[in-house]
Amino acid sequence: MIITVDGPAGAGKSTIAKLLAEKLNFLYVDTGAMYRALTLKAENQNMDYADIPGLVKMAEKTKITLEKSKSCKTIVFLDGFDVSDAIREPIITNAVYKIARIAEIRQIMVSWQRDYGKKHSIVMEGRDIGTVVFPQAEKKFYLDASAQIRAKRRMLELKEKGIDISREELITQIEERDHKDKTRKCGPLKIADDAIYIDSSDLDISEVVTTMLKYLKDKHEK
Ligand code: DC
Repeated sequence: MIITVDGPAGAGKSTIAKLLAEKLNFLYVDTGAMYRALTLKAENQNMDYADIPGLVKMAEKTKITLEKSKSCKTIVFLDGFDVSDAIREPIITNAVYKIARIAEIRQIMVSWQRDYGKKHSIVMEGRDIGTVVFPQAEKKFYLDASAQIRAKRRMLELKEKGIDISREELITQIEERDHKDKTRKCGPLKIADDAIYIDSSDLDISEVVTTMLKYLKDKHEK
């Protein structure tokens, strides 16, 4: 069975998709981590983001694997090296759109992502999972939240790490990322026609997971 969870950055997709996968005993797949890992490789190799053939060649020679640690964290391996922390650095967050907008690279990613669905029952999270990667998925969710709420959540996360940044600045960053995700020519972020739309602005994590499980149960009973 394939369950897709799409939505903008900061809507809580990772936490929620991971929890949902644990409850169902499905494999959780974070596709954003794949785009991030490839961006890290491009940065490490000082690639020119305008050199599309060079970047595609690099992607073809790359191996990205996702594994689950004992504490249920996703470990991301790039060509055999654990890059789980490095791919979350701001330099990668700010550059990843330059990789994610390349159609040929998205094709490679989509084929890797489809392979996961051939071997496992999965909860796969991203931007184009219900629209492009698995348009035939049994259940699709689109998880949203207002930019104000996403900025507030991010501000609290950063504060815990000792980083102070204003909510206004975070709202601007979030709106810029949304714009890039939604206006990309290939695989843009959009709501699949048959997706269940959940606005998590006023819901906590467990309420969202409970709502999703209820939709899944209803589907089985029909
Ligand atoms: O979910 P995230 O913030 O880790 O995603 C990182 C980037 O990858 C983000 O800029 C959007 C892009 N992405 C994408 O284009 N398609 C996906 N399926 C997943 C992520």
